[in-house]
Amino acid sequence: MSKPEYPPPPYRVKTVEMMERKSREERQKAIKEAGYNTFLLDSEDVYIDLLTDSGTSAMSDEQWAGLMKGDEAYAGSDNWYNLENTVQKLYGFDYVVPTHQGRGAENLISQVLISEGDYVPGNMYFTTTRTHIELNGGEFVDVIIDEGHNPQSSHEFKGNVDLEKYEELIRNVGPENIPYINIGVTVNMAGGQPVSMNNLKKVSELSRENDIKVIYDATRCVENAYFIKEREEGYEDKTIKEILREMMSYADGCTMSGKKDCLVNIGGFLAVDDEDTYREATQLVVVYEGMSTYGGMAGRDMEAMARGLREAVNYDYVNHRVKQVEYLGERLLEEDVPIITPVGGHAVFLDAKKFLPHLQQDELPAQTLAAEIYVESGVRSMERGIVSAGRAEDGSHNYPELETVRLTIPRRVYTRPHLDVAADAIIDLYAESEDISGLKFVYEPPVLRFFTARFEKLD
Ligand SMILES: Cc1ncc(COP(=O)(O)O)c(C=O)c1O
Repeated sequence: MSKPEYPPPPYRVKTVEMMERKSREERQKAIKEAGYNTFLLDSEDVYIDLLTDSGTSAMSDEQWAGLMKGDEAYAGSDNWYNLENTVQKLYGFDYVVPTHQGRGAENLISQVLISEGDYVPGNMYFTTTRTHIELNGGEFVDVIIDEGHNPQSSHEFKGNVDLEKYEELIRNVGPENIPYINIGVTVNMAGGQPVSMNNLKKVSELSRENDIKVIYDATRCVENAYFIKEREEGYEDKTIKEILREMMSYADGCTMSGKKDCLVNIGGFLAVDDEDTYREATQLVVVYEGMSTYGGMAGRDMEAMARGLREAVNYDYVNHRVKQVEYLGERLLEEDVPIITPVGGHAVFLDAKKFLPHLQQDELPAQTLAAEIYVESGVRSMERGIVSAGRAEDGSHNYPELETVRLTIPRRVYTRPHLDVAADAIIDLYAESEDISGLKFVYEPPVLRFFTARFEKLD
């Protein structure tokens, strides 16, 4: 079998951070004390941390240098103007509102646009996005194509919106009850799957005909632009920057978690085209985040984000990043470990229903598998299945079709041997997976339960 492609990193190492692998006994103790929830493990107990790509990027020397240029004035910081200008140039929106991270922007846009009883369609839910929609009286409606829920479908743009589902919703509830459609580019919960330019264009046309705004969750929009370049006809010779600008031209605004494709450890923003939405958002930002020229970020954080935004649209960077993720996926596929294919932009998602077929979904297969991977190897991953999906209004669990464990690759942090450690451990675990028993809840918070829930082993 040919070796998966792995381009050399387009950077070299200047600073190192030492890491240590605890013994198996120590890991067993640590996961038990963490209630079998990998979110509750201490960082020092983790060897290779694939919990998330959120806020875990390595910054460049340029970004670190930028921290020293932090203008920490309460109002009108230089770094704010640099950030605002960078977002306007790269994304094309006229108005930018800074926030401490992505969910800050989600809070603002949900409060501004949603009224009680509204519907907000989207291409599969994201945890914090849906929570803000619901807290503001809206109902999230999933309009992703069916392939997005099918781990084995080889569709190249599994994040696409199903235009018929979207049209049907408009017909059924009336366009006046849909303030906006929320489009994830890429779709995290579907496996980091992209949306095609053609689909974004069609969604925009249908939305404009019906006077419905289009708001992107732009958290991983650079990775989406990369997939368009790689997979969509007519885009192979365009730059990532050009593709990004065209993508954004089909939206009225976006929320951004700067902790991913802006290559920083903290930060976010809301960007919009429309002045009224901007005005209302700035009235709220002072309540929830901070002045509209810092929104919860220090001047130095804004500088690092402005610089990160520009670095992220470099082709060599994003090509290496996505290929690195693909490499881990290929290693697992070579040994028939069940994963979501095609591999997405930021993570490899294990198909926990197939990995642990003897467990019912109520026995929390993905939560169980994440805990077992940690014990096996010291690699931390995350559940994205029934625990993340929470409960429906009637109190019963939501049962998502995708029951996955996410192995998320931080940007510019790990090397191929680190990925091999993770792959080898998971391959070994898969060979003995029938002996693994499930988990049950012993503590369940009412909102976003996956962060802090605790579990015990079933006998
Ligand atoms: C798709 C997506 N949207 C929104 C968010 C929320 O962003 P933050 O964690 O910066 O609040 C995340 C974070 O993981 C995400 O992956």
